[in-house]
Amino acid sequence: MDMIDPFGRRITYLRVSVTDRCDFRCTYCMAEDMTFLPKRDLLSLEELDRLCTVFIQKGVKKLRLTGGEPLVRKNVMHLVRELSRHLKSGALEELTLTTNGSQLARFASELADYGVKRINVSLDTLDPGKFHQITRWGHLDKVMAGIDAAQAAGLKVKLNAVALKGFNDEEIPEMLRWAHGRGMDLTLIETMPMGEIDADRTDQYLPLSLMRARLERQFTLRDIPYKTGGPARYVEVAETGGRLGFITPMTHNFCESCNRVRLTCTGTLYMCLGQEDAADLRAPLRASEGDELVSKAIDEAIGRKPKGHDFVIDRRTNRPSVARHMSVTGG
Ligand code: GTP
Ligand code: 5AD
Ligand code: SF4
Repeated sequence: MDMIDPFGRRITYLRVSVTDRCDFRCTYCMAEDMTFLPKRDLLSLEELDRLCTVFIQKGVKKLRLTGGEPLVRKNVMHLVRELSRHLKSGALEELTLTTNGSQLARFASELADYGVKRINVSLDTLDPGKFHQITRWGHLDKVMAGIDAAQAAGLKVKLNAVALKGFNDEEIPEMLRWAHGRGMDLTLIETMPMGEIDADRTDQYLPLSLMRARLERQFTLRDIPYKTGGPARYVEVAETGGRLGFITPMTHNFCESCNRVRLTCTGTLYMCLGQEDAADLRAPLRASEGDELVSKAIDEAIGRKPKGHDFVIDRRTNRPSVARHMSVTGG
């Protein structure tokens, strides 16, 4: 019944990219001019709910909606409300989302009503000008209003910042103090070579081992066993009393403890963020009213989950390791 892959890893975490579209164009994530998945291929919210429910029956305990920007999918709150029944029944332990925060002011209290306890907000800088520069289309004041609304609604907020050389590395100490001062965890992420962007990733890539060493000149960092089900390793910062996470796909591979698979808005299941292999779940879902076909397709897919990714960023191979953008699979 439970999903266990060939390496003995139990799959308990499903990430669902409900749309690959986004109202921002972060320079490390997207090109300015993007081609998105064709609208006609989209699963309906009902189909997404049905698929998620099958995964929950097969042992998924944690479900995260991602994108693109999940809150720009039309009527997405309907899906959140439907999925919240699995929280009530106890089948699901956590329903959450990763958002750029642009629409959060509007949706925060509704999310809390439906049993969401904790959300991750992507924020790479606290400077309004730089924020506009990195997101191309975003406005910092909107995101700040979103974070305020989320905290007012009682949601725990974790901030995600992609560490970018020459862009926000100098600012990380300030972001850390600010986040911890407001009771938020902060997680730093190494940029991953996914999809063509307009910039050169070799110029932006900052190994977090280096960042950590730099932070240790000002802060006392203590490794702690805190875990959220994601790939971050956490430290506690003595000076602020807050938690800082490191997501290090490039310098430290965390694949051996991988517990997750990801579903796209067109019903494609990716067994690894860093590999091309995928399984179509839309055809088996639509082929019958019962769930046997899709359940079998999921088992087959889990049966070929790869050991891990092999991301590389260097000047010689100045091409993405994976052709699709992060926004297709939602991280
Ligand atoms: P929590 O631990 O529940 O807070 O969340 P999370 O870290 O799993 O999710 P979040 O959406 O905040 O993701 C943060 C970053 O981690 C994103 O950039 C993801 O792409 C990255 N990430 C999550 N899972 C994986 C993974 O399996 N492999 C790689 N390489 N990166 C991942
Ligand atoms: N490498 C690392 N992180 C990325 N994100 C988007 N694209 C990339 C990339 N190429 C981050 C976003 C968000 C999370 C879901 O993924 O900033 O925090
Ligand atoms: Fe949108 Fe997130 Fe990609 Fe930025 S990183 S363009 S907010 S999907």
